[in-house]
Amino acid sequence: MKDSPFIYGTTVSTHSFTNREKETLKLKANLLNGINTMLISPRRWGKSSLVEKVMADIHRKDKKIKTVMIDLFSVGSEEEFLETYAREVIKASSTRWQEWMTSGSLFFKKLIPKLSLGIDPYNDFSLSFDWNELKKNSDEVLNLAESIAKKKGIKFIICLDEFQNLASFNDYLDFEKKLRACWQRQKSVTYCLYGSKRHMMSDIFNNPSKPFYRFGDIMLLQKIEEKKWISFITKSFVGTQKLIDPKIAEMIPKLMKNHSWYVQQLAHYTWNLTHKKATIKELNIALSELINANSPLYQKETENISHTQLNLLKAVAKAETQFTSTAVMQKYLLGTPRNVSKNKSILINLDLIHEIDHKYEFLDPAFELWFKKQYFNEDYIKSI
Ligand SMILES: Nc1ncnc2c1ncn2[C@@H]1O[C@H](COP(=O)(O)OP(=O)(O)O)[C@@H](O)[C@H]1O
Ligand SMILES: [Mg+2]
Repeated sequence: MKDSPFIYGTTVSTHSFTNREKETLKLKANLLNGINTMLISPRRWGKSSLVEKVMADIHRKDKKIKTVMIDLFSVGSEEEFLETYAREVIKASSTRWQEWMTSGSLFFKKLIPKLSLGIDPYNDFSLSFDWNELKKNSDEVLNLAESIAKKKGIKFIICLDEFQNLASFNDYLDFEKKLRACWQRQKSVTYCLYGSKRHMMSDIFNNPSKPFYRFGDIMLLQKIEEKKWISFITKSFVGTQKLIDPKIAEMIPKLMKNHSWYVQQLAHYTWNLTHKKATIKELNIALSELINANSPLYQKETENISHTQLNLLKAVAKAETQFTSTAVMQKYLLGTPRNVSKNKSILINLDLIHEIDHKYEFLDPAFELWFKKQYFNEDYIKSI
């Protein structure tokens, strides 16, 4: 049996990557021209995949440009960040591990990194600093890529995923100033900083009183359009010797509101159930499977919020827009206008809803279907 052409759960950058032509061109042009770029979208719309694809393209074409990709999701402190950053920059600087080991004395003046290699040098290279020294001389690390680039006549593009996580470090405010001060002077290093927490990212980059204001170009990544999904789904079925009814190929992105992860997931479930041709029967089962698989999570999300927050979510599900009008507040028991505004921020911070074209909507389309079934007994398929 053929492998599924639909992938979710990991980034897609080659196989299963679709569309994003314009975004690819723009991001590539920016980064090749030294324009720092910030990429923002809710999670699972495709930032990491896009960056990975652009980096792979650049890497293939120009060996003098070194690319570094670091996910800050699990990096918990300034020290850990600096060590990871130094390690990855050194690793990217050369394809020969022998050169990594000499970088300590070549590129550091005050800091003395402890470098070590395991049995497999390419995967077991580690680096650490004395943390007291590191705190005093962090600019040596923050300028490391620039120093290496100048000496070797190369360039770096450094991509930091889930960048807003830095804001949770102790002493972040000082660190933020230091980062900006070092990075803005660099001529041979370009940064791509991206993240899923839109309000936090905006606060870092759009606030005139913050150091990262005007650090570069901000791209708000949009969803992939419905018609692109339809042709991707149809072609992927055909490419694996299966067929899909055109109506069903259209319903998949519609039901999942063009959400990248979920379109792939629903397409995968449907594909998996299909022998020859996907029809409404397969889609129905696939959709139930998908929602059932996620329902413990959805259950938890609703248990973790207060009554008035849940009520506000109901109002969002019913496409209400005037939350503070007396009628809406009474109908859904939303409390006072102050409660409404506070709860709105909480639901946004929890990534449950977001504002789009002056309306609020669920961020997670499958959670929305589950929610409407749970609280209003609406059928999944009816809701499109
Ligand atoms: N360009 C794309 N083409 C097809 N599927 C995509 C694309 N971008 C993302 N996806 C789907 O969405 C999922 C989440 O993408 P990811 O890049 O991890 O998003 P983010 O970094 O924004 O959270 C991927 O696992 C994949 O299923
Ligand atoms: Mg990501």
